[in-house]
Amino acid sequence: MARAPRGGWRLRLAGFVLAAATAGPLVAGEQPARLPDEQVVIAHRGASGHLPEHTLAGYALAHAMGADYIEPDLVMTGDGVLIALHDIHLEATTDVEERFPDRARDDGRWYAADFTLAEIGTLSVHERTGADGTPVYPERFRGGTDGFRVPTFEAVLALVASLNRTTGCAVGVYPELKRPDFHAAEGLPLEAPFLAVLDAYGYRGRDAPIIVQSFHPDSLERLRFEHETGLRLVQLIADAPVHAPLRTPRGLDAIATYADGIGPAKTLITASDGSLVRQARERGLSVHPYTFRADDVGDGFDSLEAELARFLFDYGVDGIFTDHPEVAARLLGTRARADRAPACRQARPG
Ligand code: G3P
Ligand code: CA
Repeated sequence: MARAPRGGWRLRLAGFVLAAATAGPLVAGEQPARLPDEQVVIAHRGASGHLPEHTLAGYALAHAMGADYIEPDLVMTGDGVLIALHDIHLEATTDVEERFPDRARDDGRWYAADFTLAEIGTLSVHERTGADGTPVYPERFRGGTDGFRVPTFEAVLALVASLNRTTGCAVGVYPELKRPDFHAAEGLPLEAPFLAVLDAYGYRGRDAPIIVQSFHPDSLERLRFEHETGLRLVQLIADAPVHAPLRTPRGLDAIATYADGIGPAKTLITASDGSLVRQARERGLSVHPYTFRADDVGDGFDSLEAELARFLFDYGVDGIFTDHPEVAARLLGTRARADRAPACRQARPG
């Protein structure tokens, strides 16, 4: 494995020669460079359009709905255990405020890093709420919180392994390391414990059914060059000024030195009219945009199906993050890959 040049990604970025700009955008109807059967459905926070995000029930539903990958976001407890949670705080998706009213920091937030796994294990998970306490997606799950807990990363891997075994499917996992900078400052660096868990579950090398994602280039570079992982890595790119350098030709050149793909906000692809997809492809990078939702479709689309069709068949992205994996699986199964065997083709073990 090549070693990282010194100076970090920003310095390296500045040192790259400006790559040639790409040709025009993909146009509607043009064949994407990659075969449709390589396009994958990534269940964003599980089947989060139907069950509370980052719950074992939501992951299991996503598995049954035809997802190719299941996405757990990961943070760490104070006693060093990786758990599936989107935020470094607990209050948006759990009842921590009621259970531990005196454990907020001075900023009024309840940090997972301030709680043990045993404490977090007592919390109930509910649909995501905003700062005012009302549901972010009011039409989603209304069935109460009984049985919904914050799962450990190991429990997620065990669930997927067991479901793969009993169904004969080969569903992968697509974990995201959340806020590695924050965790390191708390004395809880993420990368080594993360790789140790994966190794224990047999996820090794680029053929393993896993893709690792992060918004943080430094963390991905540590995984690739310090820990010398061979796992596939994806650089997330936010639609925010701080990430603008990453989506330039030089930025994409830099990403291609440590990652296998990019996960851009979908608005970055529409804003470029697809040229970001082409530029990534020219560098051997796959493209997995986020996030597609039936109850929050993108501007200019009247349905999730129409939005997905634009991205999958016109822009030709390699996969999509979606809260509604059944819609994407149905679309790919009926349009792009009618001959696509379900990921569950092989015989069920006895
Ligand atoms: O990881 C892709 C997408 O999930 C990034 O956004 O905030 O939902 O983790 P977020
Ligand atoms: Ca994520």
